[in-house]
Amino acid sequence: MKFFIDTADVKEIAAATELGLVDGVTTNPSLVAKSGRDFHDVLKEIISLVDGPISAEVVATDAAAMIKEAEVLAKLDPEKIVIKLPLTEEGLKATKALSQKGFKTNLTLIFSPLQALLAAKAGATYVSPFVGRLDDVGHEGMECVEQIRTIFDNYGYGTEIIVASVRSPQHVLQAGMIGADICTIPYSVMLQLAKHPLTDIGLEKFLADWQKHVAK
Ligand code: E4P
Repeated sequence: MKFFIDTADVKEIAAATELGLVDGVTTNPSLVAKSGRDFHDVLKEIISLVDGPISAEVVATDAAAMIKEAEVLAKLDPEKIVIKLPLTEEGLKATKALSQKGFKTNLTLIFSPLQALLAAKAGATYVSPFVGRLDDVGHEGMECVEQIRTIFDNYGYGTEIIVASVRSPQHVLQAGMIGADICTIPYSVMLQLAKHPLTDIGLEKFLADWQKHVAK
């Protein structure tokens, strides 16, 4: 399973890259706003740090304006930049047009398997089901991912599934068990993945035994 990092904070991206955990990056308008920086400046810096797909989201709501924004964003790096679009009717129209022109697209704000199917039919490169936000409203977010996996496999869609709105290591584990292609993970959750109390206890014991041995 590929790991994307879900942030617009370049310090987090650099730190996770050092750990060898970054296959790509996803950003969204809220994450860019949180960074407090100019969108294009942040993207340029991420492009210089990461050798993989980088999702940059449009903020227009009609297809023609989405396409115009996409053309500007993609110019920053036509290979790496993936245009992130909301799963709306206008978003689907723009996705169809952009995929025909060879742009990579990531359909975001997906909350049902049928929305994901529509995205795949429009030619999306990626779909992003938001598991954490589904859990928040009492649904089982990972069930949506499971259903998308089944539908894409049934019909051989090449659209890749990015499990998004990840809140815990449990989400990452379930994504792997289901066979999602990618999990986009906040840096804080990435760090939690490496932690196990028995690793810490075991290391402490190894080092204590070693100290006793060398002191003899
Ligand atoms: C990623 O593509 C999404 O924008 C992100 O995972 C949303 O996460 P949130 O629900 O924690 O805001």
